[in-house]
Amino acid sequence: MHRSQVLQALLDRKPNPTYLEIGVERGKLLLPLKAGRKIAVDPKFDISWRKKLKAYLRHKSNRSIEYYEVPSDEFFAKHSATISDGIDVAFVDGLHTHEQAYVDVQNCLKYLKPDGVIVMHDCIPPNAAAAEYAMSPEEVAVRNLPDWSGEWTGDVYKAVIQLRAENSDLNVFTLDCDYGLAVVHRGPQDSPLQADVPELSLLKYQDFLARKSELLNVKQPQFFHEWLSRVA
Ligand SMILES: C[S@@+](CC[C@H](N)C(=O)[O-])C[C@H]1O[C@@H](n2cnc3c(N)ncnc32)[C@H](O)[C@@H]1O
Repeated sequence: MHRSQVLQALLDRKPNPTYLEIGVERGKLLLPLKAGRKIAVDPKFDISWRKKLKAYLRHKSNRSIEYYEVPSDEFFAKHSATISDGIDVAFVDGLHTHEQAYVDVQNCLKYLKPDGVIVMHDCIPPNAAAAEYAMSPEEVAVRNLPDWSGEWTGDVYKAVIQLRAENSDLNVFTLDCDYGLAVVHRGPQDSPLQADVPELSLLKYQDFLARKSELLNVKQPQFFHEWLSRVA
């Protein structure tokens, strides 16, 4: 299942939902999604005017996309008034470090409506090289790692572990598709992370792999529809 299917299904639960995307790049996800209001945050957008025009003509929700060309921390510090009415669905796909992903989710939670949902991308790295801690994929590429394929998730998976361990008021599960989509929403935890939580700064990819299912509360993609029918 692709992230666009998960996000559109979440948006379709509401009339005129507000959607926030952190980390947008070329707008491949943002532009086709249909929402009442779309807010886009990225320090460097890479969306051509042609693409914007095509999207504008294709769907009315593309006629008023609000673009903020700033890092997510700056968006929340200076522009949060724009989301004071609340967010229905947020997608966190900005800087792929566990610290930033965790802060992005915490900031989204401040504006998330009570029944809102946050989806985090890149929570299941396909290999050790993809899971490298870095500020960009270019930084990992020059490390000449044996299994480097150009795919980079960073260590966002550690933010999911931290969310599960430290926020008993949140239910978090991770769909095993599209590099791992963690779904975060308010409510009782369906599978609390009780076993000893590893020290995140010391956690190695191989150790994570051995406990992936338990640490991330991994679910097969079809679980999403089951869960949605329960909460919708
Ligand atoms: C993987 S891309 C996003 C892809 C997009 N969400 C999609 O699905 O098509 C990651 C983006 O995060 C952006 N980014 C990096 N640091 C960021 C930050 N601190 N705040 C927001 N976005 C950031 C990068 O500029 C890049 O465009």
